Amino acid sequence: MSSWARHIAAAAVLFAASPAWAAGQPPGYYGYGTPATPAQIAGWAISVRPDGQGLPPGHGNVDHGADVFAQQCAPCHGTFGEGETRYPKLAGGSLKGDRPEPTVGSFWPYATTLWDYVNSSMPFPAPHSLAPDDVYAITAYVLNLNNIVPNDFVADQNSLPKVKMPNRDGFIWKDPRPDTHDTACMKACVDPAAVKITSSAEGKNLTPRTTGPLDTSLPQ
Ligand code: HEC
Repeated sequence: MSSWARHIAAAAVLFAASPAWAAGQPPGYYGYGTPATPAQIAGWAISVRPDGQGLPPGHGNVDHGADVFAQQCAPCHGTFGEGETRYPKLAGGSLKGDRPEPTVGSFWPYATTLWDYVNSSMPFPAPHSLAPDDVYAITAYVLNLNNIVPNDFVADQNSLPKVKMPNRDGFIWKDPRPDTHDTACMKACVDPAAVKITSSAEGKNLTPRTTGPLDTSLPQ
């Protein structure tokens, strides 16, 4: 056998012996990794939906929330959610005026997703480190700071979905695209050669070509 033929024979044996795409494996199995265990999947599947689906058992009140917030959140967000230095303000604010201030009170549409965000992403240096009861308590406290719930409010699986946030109706949930609704002209259409452009953004410096990604498809 010539040497190249021996190489091909050896390669063929390697392929044949490789278990990666052996029969019996599920489609899409590439021979590496291990299937995620139910416990691993549960560890990542923590999102809470606007209707409250996904909220775990537990509860927390405004007073306890004030304590946990003072320890875990106030260094950045201020004792009353007013925001230290450039960290986000969590209370007050208004979307009106020249400088709208989106906060939990002025902007967020759901109390349930506030729970979700605090649970998954805060405190900033140690995300997802709080017990569900503490997240409930903090949520109650932040809602109370915004005058959305009373002092004796207890946050839990049932009460949070019922909280009506001030900006609940300020979002457009329907995908508005396409945002122009031209209909194609199919008969007796205007001769394109006769169309005269009377106004254009060209030359008015509205969209300088020198910024943003280079678009070489346009004449420079
Ligand atoms: C070390 C500083 C720090 C600490 C401590 C901290 N946060 Fe934050 N927080 C941030 C930063 C930075 C952001 C903005 C993150 C972003 O936009 O990606 C933020 C964003 C938020 C927001 C969203 C604000 C908005 O309207 O977009 C909420 C709510 C929030 N934090 C709550 C908390 C709570 C509750 C705690 C305590 C459990 C906490 N944070 C602790 C720094 C911190």
